[in-house]
Amino acid sequence: MRVAILTSSDSGYAGEREDLSGPVIEEIVTQAGYEVVWTGLLPDDRKMLSEEMKRIADENVAELLLTTGGTGFSPRDCMPEATADIAERMVPGIPEAMRAYSMRFTKRAMLSRASAAIRKSTLIVNLPGSPKAVRECLEYVIPELGHGLEILTGAASNCARK
Ligand code: MTE
Repeated sequence: MRVAILTSSDSGYAGEREDLSGPVIEEIVTQAGYEVVWTGLLPDDRKMLSEEMKRIADENVAELLLTTGGTGFSPRDCMPEATADIAERMVPGIPEAMRAYSMRFTKRAMLSRASAAIRKSTLIVNLPGSPKAVRECLEYVIPELGHGLEILTGAASNCARK
């Protein structure tokens, strides 16, 4: 499965801060057997973010689009809204699971507004902005994403019912 990684950061886009979270995502998904086909860095701009996510889904660039940053309360944080703008179907269980699991590390996990959605054959999952939060959230959910992606892309017809 192919992965695209999109970082949302005003300071990263301005060249004032190095993007450390995108590379953490790349490391984790590569280890899990995914192929990273695209990485990008945009400012916390709702229209720019949603247009890029829409392009990745509509041009079938990747089956999995992982985003980092822009999920908090800062006035510029708009990743969940940009995701909702282009979502066809919401996937609440993934961010619910990430938040529930993350509470063991920090109760501030409840402050992430991360969402997940499907557009065409692409699953979009928002992750928080810090490299630590990315690692904690992504390592927890990545083992289950493959099954969802197989069903989404038609590689598996349905869940085995036992
Ligand atoms: N989730 C995990 N697993 N670990 C963390 O350290 N940080 C939280 C939360 N989620 C955190 C986490 C904090 S402090 C914030 S403010 C929110 O994610 C939003 O982060 P963002 O604005 O960088 O996306």
